[in-house]
Amino acid sequence: MKLANQVAIITGASEGIGKALAELFAREGVRVVLAARSEEKLQALANALGPDRVLVVPTDVADSAQLKQLVARTVERFGGLDILVNNAGVGLYARVEEMDWEHFRRMWEVNFFAAVRLTMEALPYLQQRRGVVVNISSVAGKMPLPFMAGYCATKFALTAFSHGLRMELAPAGVRVLVVCPGRVRTEFHKVAYRDGRSLPRIFERRDSSGIPAERVAQATLRAIQRGRREIVVPWHLRLLVAFQAVFPGLTERVLARLAQQSNQAQW
Ligand SMILES: NC(=O)c1ccc[n+]([C@@H]2O[C@H](COP(=O)([O-])OP(=O)(O)OC[C@H]3O[C@@H](n4cnc5c(N)ncnc54)[C@H](OP(=O)(O)O)[C@@H]3O)[C@@H](O)[C@H]2O)c1
Repeated sequence: MKLANQVAIITGASEGIGKALAELFAREGVRVVLAARSEEKLQALANALGPDRVLVVPTDVADSAQLKQLVARTVERFGGLDILVNNAGVGLYARVEEMDWEHFRRMWEVNFFAAVRLTMEALPYLQQRRGVVVNISSVAGKMPLPFMAGYCATKFALTAFSHGLRMELAPAGVRVLVVCPGRVRTEFHKVAYRDGRSLPRIFERRDSSGIPAERVAQATLRAIQRGRREIVVPWHLRLLVAFQAVFPGLTERVLARLAQQSNQAQW
């Protein structure tokens, strides 16, 4: 599939995976619409990519009116839409009984409701061009993890929504790709909500370990070009997901023990 001159909206384009995707798409000749809250960061990225083929639309994805505006401005500027990347997301690490309810709700707004709402706004245009919806889920959207139950739930919901949507849209020729990264070296772990006082030490880590965001962007681009339905990045984590599916009880016991042990040992 040739991407040159196609039009793509990327949410969460100011940092991390979204930014890496915007840079890669722009190199492929895609006309990119950058959406996030940090206008200055988006503007700096647009200047670096070449402002003629890039549109900046400062957007809080938790606000439905702003999502409507995002699609309207895209179509007004570029005449249509081929690729929607629902990437904006936030994490929440906490014991369930210590979760801040506002953080929990906000996370659902950003990680799930915004993706659904924006997809609804974009679908009439994506159907005109037999486009692609790309939803950035997570390995945590395939495999539940302790102290991340709320976050995993948002990503499981996004994964399930995507697979249902794909079947619905098949006759219209609109494709749906689910991207499930493992740990990625971005700001995500610094800005994630951390609630309560008794998190295992491993969840206090704010360092930037993991694969580079560029690797997720490359894998996503290839998956779009090859018409894939779901990818796990890095690939070998699919084995872990498969193991969990076959031995869920054993996996739960091991993960729970590892999380608890992190209080004794430095991970
Ligand atoms: N990093 C990982 O280990 C990892 C692993 C698996 C999946 N993921 C998923 O990958 C996606 C991207 O994460 P990342 O690692 O690139 O994180 P990141 O570096 O923290 O970037 C998150 C992006 O989302 C945007 N964002 C957050 N809240 C927003 C809001 N209300 N409205 C608009 N934009 C908003 C941020 O921009 P502003 O702050 O400027 O709004 C930023 O551009 C997320 O969905 C995440 O769940 C990440």
